[in-house]
Amino acid sequence: MATVVLAYSGGLDTSVCIRWLQEHYNMDVVTLTIDLGHEPDLPAIQRKAKQTGAREAYVVDARDIFIDHFIWPALKAGAVYENAYYLATALGRPLIAKLLVDVAREEGAEAVAHGSTGKGNDQVRFDVSVHALAPELQVIAPVREWGLTRDQEEAYAKEHGIPVPEGSRQPYSLDQNLWGRSIESGPLEDPWMEPPEDAYEWTVAPENAPDTPAYVEIAFEEGIPIAINGQEKSGVDLIQELNDLGGAHGVGRVDHVENRVVGIKSREIYECPAGTILFKAHEALEQMTLARDQSHFKRVVAEEISRLVYGGLWFSTLNRDLMAFVDSTQRSVSGIVRVKLYRGQATVVGRQSPHSLYREDLATYLSGDAFDHRAAEGFVKIWGLSTQVQARQQIHGNDTPLLPQAKRLEAKEAEDA
Ligand code: ARG
Repeated sequence: MATVVLAYSGGLDTSVCIRWLQEHYNMDVVTLTIDLGHEPDLPAIQRKAKQTGAREAYVVDARDIFIDHFIWPALKAGAVYENAYYLATALGRPLIAKLLVDVAREEGAEAVAHGSTGKGNDQVRFDVSVHALAPELQVIAPVREWGLTRDQEEAYAKEHGIPVPEGSRQPYSLDQNLWGRSIESGPLEDPWMEPPEDAYEWTVAPENAPDTPAYVEIAFEEGIPIAINGQEKSGVDLIQELNDLGGAHGVGRVDHVENRVVGIKSREIYECPAGTILFKAHEALEQMTLARDQSHFKRVVAEEISRLVYGGLWFSTLNRDLMAFVDSTQRSVSGIVRVKLYRGQATVVGRQSPHSLYREDLATYLSGDAFDHRAAEGFVKIWGLSTQVQARQQIHGNDTPLLPQAKRLEAKEAEDA
């Protein structure tokens, strides 16, 4: 019998997938559950997979690979989709795809499967990534295929002895890993409605956060955070600690109407305290250690990388090439950044680096100024020359874009009197 390797979360959808793949594809199902952080009870998920009919149920702790090969590169790049989303789910999918491919090869499987719907981005990320890594494998997305309503799905589950979670149905669609939590659908589908407090789990409301700020010092080595307040940490601990600390101060809430790959706009809520703090700190360090042109060009690259990652093109050659550029820029991005956390805000309040390009003797307005003021005159003349020539030659009198006359203060005073 042919084998399919299913990405298994333990939820209702992927549990139904196990039986559905057996019935409709007549395949042997091997499940793969991957810990990217914030997985509740892995042994229970493994047991459930077996009980539901999986021939084999693998569980993998991929947190370190996730951090070293996906999260840190995204942080170094400064990749934020649409200026709002730190890409937690989008970064996790290509890794899950890679691990599915590994198991499929070990098991001699013909196909891999995932529980994504036909409306979201995740199907794009899974399908494209698997095809990039293993063009010979078939990708099956049962939920996209079966067209069951929620009621029909629950009926199917009951028929096949799959436990359906009792009580109130989750009003939200959730996904989380250690880099962030995403919440969508239910009451959030009305973009005018403020997200109910129960949508949030990692963060307190800023208005309920402590009235005393917290300060945290983050040390970076070539763009990678390595220590908090002078103490070296593993990636997992560092991210977890910043999630806890940021969350307690209401930092990292995002409310965003997002452009999906499939052309839909959707309202998305995110919680990403560690991501928010680390992106701000990293950017502040770059501001101090990258030259102006390097820093400006890197923003263009970051924007492009964010679109590639969001759109499931992590394994594209373009992403790899752009990431090589990013890595090269990080040689000088070492140092310490001080961040203040207060009522929903993470604010950089200090930075230092052995590679700093900031020179106090050039910046100062006090004594000891080393800047050549006389050189500025000639520089400014040349800098503005083309604008000046054009003004003379082409912009005559009436063509000058005139702004409205500004009101004079004395005139107004006279009126009042
Ligand atoms: N909108 C985000 C993305 O496309 C999160 C999707 C996660 N899935 C979910 N069911 N909440 O990456």
